[in-house]
Amino acid sequence: MDLQGKNTVVTGAGRGIGAALARAFHARGANVVLADVAGAADAAAAIGGDRVIGIVADVSTEEGNRQLVEQSRDAFGPIDLFFANAGVGNGTTLADTTEDVWNTAFDVNVHAHRWAAKYLMPEWLERGDGYFCSTASAAGLLAQIGSGPYTMTKRAAVAFAEWMSITYGDAGIKVTCLCPQGVNTEMLHGGDDPISGNNVVKVAGAVLEPDDVAEQVADTIEAETFFVLPHPEVADFMQFKATDPDRWLGGMRKLQRRVQQG
Ligand SMILES: NC(=O)c1ccc[n+]([C@@H]2O[C@H](COP(=O)([O-])OP(=O)(O)OC[C@H]3O[C@@H](n4cnc5c(N)ncnc54)[C@H](O)[C@@H]3O)[C@@H](O)[C@H]2O)c1
Repeated sequence: MDLQGKNTVVTGAGRGIGAALARAFHARGANVVLADVAGAADAAAAIGGDRVIGIVADVSTEEGNRQLVEQSRDAFGPIDLFFANAGVGNGTTLADTTEDVWNTAFDVNVHAHRWAAKYLMPEWLERGDGYFCSTASAAGLLAQIGSGPYTMTKRAAVAFAEWMSITYGDAGIKVTCLCPQGVNTEMLHGGDDPISGNNVVKVAGAVLEPDDVAEQVADTIEAETFFVLPHPEVADFMQFKATDPDRWLGGMRKLQRRVQQG
């Protein structure tokens, strides 16, 4: 899809990867709604001009998604591309993760995607055109050392994106799913816990800049292909996991031991 003149919405766009996606889409000529619980107006102002708007939106509820879709249509007209990027990186082990933390992870990282799609799809199916994008994670293809909620919800986000593509691809709906390892954002630098994302990523591979990831995403959207794997080794890890799951699990346990040692 050529982004020139397209109406796009990016959630979690107040900072980090979402803000970078908004900048990249805008630079390629799109009209952009930046949506976030915090920081959307400032991030929109930093881009500037009349093709950009910031909206306060909480995507952890169905109503928050319904309102966001409605407000975005009011701002620019029919939505061409919706990017469900907002995410939370919370939760650790079974004993240390409260029910609230589990629920927030599922609401923001998974249910938000289907709630948004629920309010986008009728118009898209009528037009025979629409582009649904989501940010999952390499953790959704492999696993997140130390976080059960992140591993489960990101796997579900990948599954939903795949299911959307299978179910609605023939009706003209395009789907792209972003699955990075470490990206240099607030989420990565969250805390001193030995199994925080920061420590995991230190032993797991390169940390990329959000703007570089966003450029790859924009290229992928223009090519209309499904996965964005900014860390290409993730494809090799997936293949290894599929061909020898027990060795893969052993390797992941070894990685966890290295992370715990700091
Ligand atoms: N940074 C990484 O290493 C990395 C790796 C893989 C995947 N991801 C994913 O990338 C996405 C963006 O994360 P990031 O790295 O930019 O982190 P970030 O914490 O900088 O940004 C996340 C944004 O989502 C917003 N958000 C959280 N809950 C929300 C809600 N209920 N409604 C609306 N907005 C909400 C936050 O306010 C924040 O601005 C997430 O889905 C994350 O899981 C990040």
